[in-house]
Amino acid sequence: MDRSQPSFVRSLIVEYISNMESMGMMVKLVGGEEEEGALQVGFRSAGASIWTLAFTSLLALGIAGFVAYCYAPYWAVRKVPGPPSTFLLGHLPLMAKHGPDVFAVLANTYGPIFRFHMGRQPLVIVADAELCREVGIKKFKSMPNRSLPSAISGSPLHLKGLFSTRDSRWSAMRNTLVSLYQPSNLANLIPVMQSYVDSASRRVSAAAREDQDIPASDLFLKMATDVIGQTAFGSNFGLLEEEEADHKQTNGSDHDVSSSFIKLHIYATTSIKMDLNASFSIILGLLIPMLQEPFRQILKRIPGTADRKIDQTNKRLSKKVEEMVAKKEQEMGRGSKDKDIVSAILRARESDGATRGLFTSDYVSSLAYEHLLAGSTTTSFTLSCLVYLVSEHPEVEKKLLAEIDGFGSHDLVPNADDLQHMFPYLDQARDKGDAKVLYSFAIGGERNIAAS
Ligand code: HEM
Repeated sequence: MDRSQPSFVRSLIVEYISNMESMGMMVKLVGGEEEEGALQVGFRSAGASIWTLAFTSLLALGIAGFVAYCYAPYWAVRKVPGPPSTFLLGHLPLMAKHGPDVFAVLANTYGPIFRFHMGRQPLVIVADAELCREVGIKKFKSMPNRSLPSAISGSPLHLKGLFSTRDSRWSAMRNTLVSLYQPSNLANLIPVMQSYVDSASRRVSAAAREDQDIPASDLFLKMATDVIGQTAFGSNFGLLEEEEADHKQTNGSDHDVSSSFIKLHIYATTSIKMDLNASFSIILGLLIPMLQEPFRQILKRIPGTADRKIDQTNKRLSKKVEEMVAKKEQEMGRGSKDKDIVSAILRARESDGATRGLFTSDYVSSLAYEHLLAGSTTTSFTLSCLVYLVSEHPEVEKKLLAEIDGFGSHDLVPNADDLQHMFPYLDQARDKGDAKVLYSFAIGGERNIAAS
């Protein structure tokens, strides 16, 4: 065998190279058989290792950055007790395992204040009624900024209410609204509420006469929505009337506007999910918030996606709310004395330039819708809990009925003063119901938590 032949050398080199390559090293053969004697082997291993190093460092930096991004909100609350959380998912798997009872389970293990991670977003859960009052009422003003839940961050209608505005705008808007909630203004709304309470009672009496069951939570949701429709928008949504008329269309003046509005509202509200049943962009917002908006923008353009349906519903809902507010503005121009919240805000904004700048029509629309959203399910849930709890304690039910019957004849309507002073036992029972509802009061918001 003539070992001096370049072809032999070349075959050895090729074998060597293939061995090196199989060991994962990058080798390049330069030249060809036609350039006899000029065979060169260019080992790029030095250059390659620089690129590999650069690439690996970038990858490591990227991974470290991503991990830091995922854990950054956790850092502010690391001292609050809580179960170990899964990377990216946080405590969502626990929620999937225990359902709504998860907070009770965690409170038993970690005490009345604990951490719960919705994906990347940590929540501090206060699971004690007295502490809830402390946080939600006494210390409320010291927590001006909430972090925006991913479920509502895509809808402009939600972004200009009290819940989402921040800093000085929040304080200014809140101060104006609180002034509209003076006891005398609220007292004026009692007859409005009474008419819906009467309607709900008639429905319950009819069901009792016919020995029929009606879901209390449905009835209370309709009642709360009707009350807020009237007190916030000055509009009769007519849900209880429809319920009373056994779902037959009635002749109420605002029903055409309201029924389509309510359908949109119900769809929009039920799509506000904070778990893995939500739309893709909302889930992404829970796990990797920075990707939510780009994905939402893409998905809302793709027919058939939940994101597109939510986007279209929110747009139609915004349009309807804007129309209602525009109608109120026109009525205001004609000197309306309506007592609903939208009218009261519109009147307040005429008082000075600063308030006018604060409550532009888009903010008024958002605030009005926020009232509906924040007030209906919370109220109906509280009432449903109360009825359930009372039904489990016949002795409490007996005492409550005695107190209510002792007030006077059935058609006697209590005024604000009566409500405040004549029903001490009912107050106690309501407080217990509130305590249950407020039992898991979540204070969202990295900044708030960091600040405290
Ligand atoms: C029993 C019934 C209710 C309960 C348990 C309840 C509970 C709460 C809680 C816990 C918050 C604070 C959320 C947070 O800051 O993270 C809140 C805020 C709010 N609630 Fe209610 N609520 C109830 C009824 C209502 C009603 C009837 C309305 C209006 C008609 C309403 C309007 C609002 C508004 C506008 C906010 C935002 C306040 C702000 O950020 O400044 N709520 N509610």
